[in-house]
Amino acid sequence: MAFDFKVADLSLAEFGRNEIRLAEHEMPGLMAVRKEFGSQKPLRGARIMGSLHMTVQTAVLIETLVELGAEVRWVSCNIFSTQDHAAAAVVVGPDGTPDDPRGVPVFAWKGETLEEYWWCTDQALTWPDGEGPNMILDDGGDATMLVHKGAQYEKAGAVPDPATAESEEFRVFLELLRKNLAENPRKWTEIASRIKGVTEETTTGVLRLYEMQREGTLLFPAINVNDSVTKSKFDNKYGCRHSLVDGINRATDVLIGGKVAVVAGYGDVGKGCADSLRGQGARVIVTEIDPICALQAAMDGYQVTTLEDVVETADIFITATGNRDVITADHMARMKHQAIVGNIGHFDNEIDMAGLAAIPGISKIEIKPQVHEWRFPDGHSIIVLSEGRLLNLGNATGHPSFVMSNSFTNQVIAQIELFTKTDQYPIGVHVLPKHLDEKVARLHLDALGVKLTTLTKKQADYIGVDVEGPYKPDHYRY
Ligand code: NAI
Repeated sequence: MAFDFKVADLSLAEFGRNEIRLAEHEMPGLMAVRKEFGSQKPLRGARIMGSLHMTVQTAVLIETLVELGAEVRWVSCNIFSTQDHAAAAVVVGPDGTPDDPRGVPVFAWKGETLEEYWWCTDQALTWPDGEGPNMILDDGGDATMLVHKGAQYEKAGAVPDPATAESEEFRVFLELLRKNLAENPRKWTEIASRIKGVTEETTTGVLRLYEMQREGTLLFPAINVNDSVTKSKFDNKYGCRHSLVDGINRATDVLIGGKVAVVAGYGDVGKGCADSLRGQGARVIVTEIDPICALQAAMDGYQVTTLEDVVETADIFITATGNRDVITADHMARMKHQAIVGNIGHFDNEIDMAGLAAIPGISKIEIKPQVHEWRFPDGHSIIVLSEGRLLNLGNATGHPSFVMSNSFTNQVIAQIELFTKTDQYPIGVHVLPKHLDEKVARLHLDALGVKLTTLTKKQADYIGVDVEGPYKPDHYRY
């Protein structure tokens, strides 16, 4: 049956399918969930709109949701993160061909413009039968924001003037909503009313959800997948430990050993990044605003200082804060010749790219896609990766399958929870119960040859837990 989609090139599907097949073996959590729930189809009736980097690993997630009964439409949550062969394979599906695609509608390709990015998100939320999705699976909260802002502006009867937007991204977003409002003044209100809930993947998206909860503007329940221990303490940390240096290497081929590398932010992502650079022999310096994380970095053996102190001497700068304006145009102007600058946080506002572009006399030379040399008027230059967007997905292929299996098993469980037990999740932001978090970890032990010790009943009673778990109170921090 013909269906709508937009990807770069369906002839890449075979390559994508081969990589998906290899990834499935490395994603034991998702495969176990398919085995456990495949015949029950708990997601039958679920119409899931997903906005999450369209990679090979995400393809395994999408096909798991389909196997559990869901109808799915998908976009990437970043303009550079799509792997075109993965997107093609998902559209073609396991049983289709490029001439007869039978998979899932995907709207994503590597190197979208901002207009295309929001067009794709709109398409994936706009189902051809006019019904719309009843679940969102989000990464960073853009799909959730589109529905919420759309509904909010419809209620107000007007969209703010795009000319007043504080960023180019938000200007394009407002343009889209203006168009939507003119075409159908109840589009987002109706879509919002059908959505049972959203499951959110990352720190930055979760921050937005808690803000809406505080302000009382959240329209449907949310599960914070990021704060499952088996997500943030694994994907954010061990995933970035793998994919940060992968991105720097593929982009620059500069020897990291012996260089001075600065990591801004020592949260879960920053910890993985610092470890990654140290593993390559870099001398790593951390910047932090939180005394606890600063102390952790110091006790892990890193020098902790301010960016001001090292901006003129360090070789590599990585932002991992989820905060804005961390590296300014002035910082970049003061960096040494061919310093490398990259961001691994969710949004591109950690590095002031607009400020950099506005420096009089500056020029931008494309070395290759997602790698740019910015030459200052005095002749010295810096190398900026992925135009300030997350470099591990822009310059490399993101986190490897095994760690994403942990994150995505949480996602699938969260989708099942919200869809099948809607009454148990009132409007608000929830985390999965600990026994499910432990279950996700358990599903990944065999593949690594881990042998778990079993508690005796006497031991379990002594530490006040059940032999079967959960083994830790909710306040335990790992
Ligand atoms: P986190 O909250 O654990 O860590 C961020 C750290 O940055 C905190 O310790 C905070 O104190 C520090 N920080 C804030 N402002 C700062 C400033 N101006 N200077 C120095 N430090 C500052 O968050 P997490 O989980 O580490 O995530 C960070 C970002 O990475 C988020 O945007 C998240 O969504 C994103 N992320 C990206 C991934 C990727 O694959 N690229 C994977 C997972 C998360």
